[in-house]
Amino acid sequence: MKIKVFDTTLRDGEQSPGCSMHLTEKLEVAKQLEKLGVDVIEAGFAIASEGDFQAIQEISKVIKGATVASLARATKEDILRAYDAVKGAKHPRIHTFIATSDIHLNYKLKKTREEVIDITKEMVTYARSLCEDVEFSCEDATRTDPEFLRVVIESAIESGARTINIPDTVGYTTPTEYYDLITYIKQKTKGIEDVVISVHCHNDLGLAVANSLAAISAGATQVECTINGLGERAGNAALEELVMAMATRKDLYAYETNIKTKEIMHTSNLVSYITGVAVQPNKAIVGANAFSHESGIHQHGVLNHASTYEIMQPEHVGRRQNELVMGKHSGKHAFKEKIKQMGFDLTEQQITQAFSEFKALLDKKKNIFDADIAAIVRNETLPVEEIIFLRDFTVHAGNQLTATAHVAVDIEGVSYRCAEIGDGPIDAAFKAIQRITGIHLNLKDYKVHSVSSGKDAQGEAFVKVLEEGLEYTGRGLSTDVIEASILAYVSVMNKILRDSVRYNAMKEQLDDNLDLMMEEAI
Ligand code: KIV
Ligand code: ZN
Repeated sequence: MKIKVFDTTLRDGEQSPGCSMHLTEKLEVAKQLEKLGVDVIEAGFAIASEGDFQAIQEISKVIKGATVASLARATKEDILRAYDAVKGAKHPRIHTFIATSDIHLNYKLKKTREEVIDITKEMVTYARSLCEDVEFSCEDATRTDPEFLRVVIESAIESGARTINIPDTVGYTTPTEYYDLITYIKQKTKGIEDVVISVHCHNDLGLAVANSLAAISAGATQVECTINGLGERAGNAALEELVMAMATRKDLYAYETNIKTKEIMHTSNLVSYITGVAVQPNKAIVGANAFSHESGIHQHGVLNHASTYEIMQPEHVGRRQNELVMGKHSGKHAFKEKIKQMGFDLTEQQITQAFSEFKALLDKKKNIFDADIAAIVRNETLPVEEIIFLRDFTVHAGNQLTATAHVAVDIEGVSYRCAEIGDGPIDAAFKAIQRITGIHLNLKDYKVHSVSSGKDAQGEAFVKVLEEGLEYTGRGLSTDVIEASILAYVSVMNKILRDSVRYNAMKEQLDDNLDLMMEEAI
């Protein structure tokens, strides 16, 4: 039996705080999800914003190997917007939903049960008039009266829904209860045998994966999940955990999925890199420690035979040893082979650029690991159009003096230099850039981590800012953490400057900042 994997990282995952992504980033994730082998990519909630709409439209243009879905509330306006966003896809889907529990009906929708049934019929019929593939979800299904749930589902099926989703919206159910609910719907609902039963579980009680597996055992054939378990509040069922539970316990779950498990690690890294949301070290399947054995007894066992303490092989999920790689004498050909082996898909131009960065790194760092190469390559795959370039910087800092930073940047052929003081050298450097550009950013998150080991390891800096309700992220990579931080700050500025209003404001500021101008940049 085949289980369809419906990935909602770009919708439920993205709508959770701190996980927003921009168009190019969403596209990159969508392409990787296609490579991973998911059956459905829920690319966003088209009516939520212009950005969401555009991202779904672009994803629809490029993805050929998976269905592309957009979420829509059960209103004509939402459904039409969703359809407009996905209609260019090879396999488009409208995913519409309405809440069905009395709590939601009374306090949120302020509608009667009869009204909900009427809306379901009308809106599913409308969605079907636009698109062949319609999924219908009963929001808060697990807190809905099962008999009423059955009636709503029957109405949706009669009106043309092909997939019926029964979500545990608030992460409230338990495996046995959910098994019974799916069994009840399967046994009692007219027409259910002609549609796909889908489940969508949230992790508020830490049961999302267990509940989804119970639902599969009861007959659900589509699971909705996210990479790294991202999602509203405590997140959604983690794709990697669900898939590996089925793959590892074939004795209990005799099901197949289309997932290429070797792509799991790469996908997890990409999503974590793009959102800036780190994966907890002890996270199942993709956490840094998920396959490492610390205790002597365990190490001894694993050395004798891996099966003593390992239920899966790390290679099956695409984990690689952090190998020491090539040195000064490695050529471009070997480099190209290496990044291919690591699962990256780069254009010739990107390879050339990444190779020259790799060579530059060799001058600064003795040992280069896979993780260093991955960081360079990731930096290359999500380029930011550069308006501002970091030219040079000097910082003075210590525990007995006020930190100062002198920063020079090039902006459209002209160099500007400025000195500032701050709470530490990084704050001072950020302030210097703000003074030059006149753009004052509302910093929400800043972190630096080392991408590999050793005191000469590269530092990857991550900056997240909030501008007019939108989150922007920037990244920088260098063996010097201060440089990495300034690069990340410049990169976030460059993203914000794509907005013509901000760009014009900066130009005006530069005209007033002639005292900071140094020279025509070369
Ligand atoms: O959790 C939920 O109920 C949802 C639906 C919109 C499917 O995300
Ligand atoms: Zn959800």
